[in-house]
Amino acid sequence: MQEQLGRLMVEAAAGAWDTPTTSPRQLDRETVALLAQVPLFASLSHRHLGQIGSIATAKRYAANSQLVCVGTPGDAFYVILSGNARVDVPGRYITVEAGDFFGEMALLDGEPRSATVTAHTEVLALMIERAKFLKLLQAEPKVALAIMTTLTRRLRTAGAPAGR
Ligand code: CMP
Repeated sequence: MQEQLGRLMVEAAAGAWDTPTTSPRQLDRETVALLAQVPLFASLSHRHLGQIGSIATAKRYAANSQLVCVGTPGDAFYVILSGNARVDVPGRYITVEAGDFFGEMALLDGEPRSATVTAHTEVLALMIERAKFLKLLQAEPKVALAIMTTLTRRLRTAGAPAGR
């Protein structure tokens, strides 16, 4: 997966995903294979993975840059493809890494961002803008369920002792 991610980073740097495509057929097989390795999308068919690729944009962030800022309006959802980032929540921080997602909360409840997320290393992330993310959830119950599962886990650990 690391090799594929490295290749995708080169494609992203070259702007291959900067303009979202409109047809899943334009996505190469490697990209679809890469999306299939993201746990959130693991249950989806290749056709549906292609559709996700068509609504997503790959973005690179330098180490130490802010990906989202607490208190600001939410405009996009992110899935980390490589690197890791730190979510600052009261009293502790949580590391999110390749395969993890963030930024869903403000999109779901319409409230401002609940935490600041900062790139720890260089981060390559898939970004899906708000309206497309909400449409994706309506069209793909399995993705909605996977997000609910993660939210439930976060709720269970919210009161757990610091250290994670
Ligand atoms: P959002 O509020 O849109 O922006 C900040 C993001 O940080 C939030 O969505 C979640 O994706 C993430 N986040 C907030 N709290 C936690 C937590 N306790 N554990 C993991 N991620 C979190």
